[in-house]
Amino acid sequence: MTEADISATVEDYANAASNAIEAGFDGVEIHGYRSGRDGSGDFSNDVVATTCNQRTDGWGGDVERRCRFHLEVTRAVISAVGSHRTAMRLSPWSDYLDMLMDDPIPTFTHLVAELKKLKLGYLSLIEARIRGNDDSDVAAGQDVGFLVKLWNNTSPVFIAGGFTPERARETVDETYREYDVGIMFGRHFVSNPDLVDRVKKHIEFADYDRSVFYTPKLAKGYIDYAYAPEHGIQAS
Ligand SMILES: Cc1cc2nc3c(=O)[nH]c(=O)nc-3n(C[C@H](O)[C@H](O)[C@H](O)COP(=O)(O)O)c2cc1C
Repeated sequence: MTEADISATVEDYANAASNAIEAGFDGVEIHGYRSGRDGSGDFSNDVVATTCNQRTDGWGGDVERRCRFHLEVTRAVISAVGSHRTAMRLSPWSDYLDMLMDDPIPTFTHLVAELKKLKLGYLSLIEARIRGNDDSDVAAGQDVGFLVKLWNNTSPVFIAGGFTPERARETVDETYREYDVGIMFGRHFVSNPDLVDRVKKHIEFADYDRSVFYTPKLAKGYIDYAYAPEHGIQAS
């Protein structure tokens, strides 16, 4: 990308954010990482990661320059919609496309320390519990705790990645008891439209069907999962 391309892209983020608010959204979560095949990895980890960003100009090289794009986008979005409506999603341990850095901690520490100054509405983090399409355990020392602690209750932190209700409870009540942390569910929310009620009432989750996760324009796998019979209500 040329300097002009970069400026135009930063502006695109700000415009997209304004449009989202105008359309009625409460806020925007900037995807600051490359997540996978769902297309959300547009600006992403590539820019911050030494494994991918080989630039030697003002946008690559040392940690400050690799984090610059994220920070400029964030500032532009904040100018457009306000910091309380702006969040950033990061996945420091993602190994998608082999882009995991040998040591991502210094880069993400710098980035989050700078984001902290911008007083975002929340910080959104992903635990690397998914490798490709498979669930795995978080490798020793490769969790997002260093960022939760660094954020230090600046605003809430939301964490996703392979949570079960029990693991969510442990994470909120035990691991991060002193921090304002919420847990997000992804795949299980697809197959459980009543997920929150199921968690509250200890009702087992229905399994999801991965083969229909990425099938645009089809209702199957998106809106045809049933409510738990225990509720006595039908999905419309
Ligand atoms: C069908 C599908 C689409 C997704 N799309 C996005 C997306 O656009 N952006 C994003 O950041 N994450 C996306 N994700 C990832 C989820 O937000 C979540 O981080 C991930 O599934 C891990 O949480 P889970 O273990 O509860 O599923 C998607 C996941 C699924 C299953």
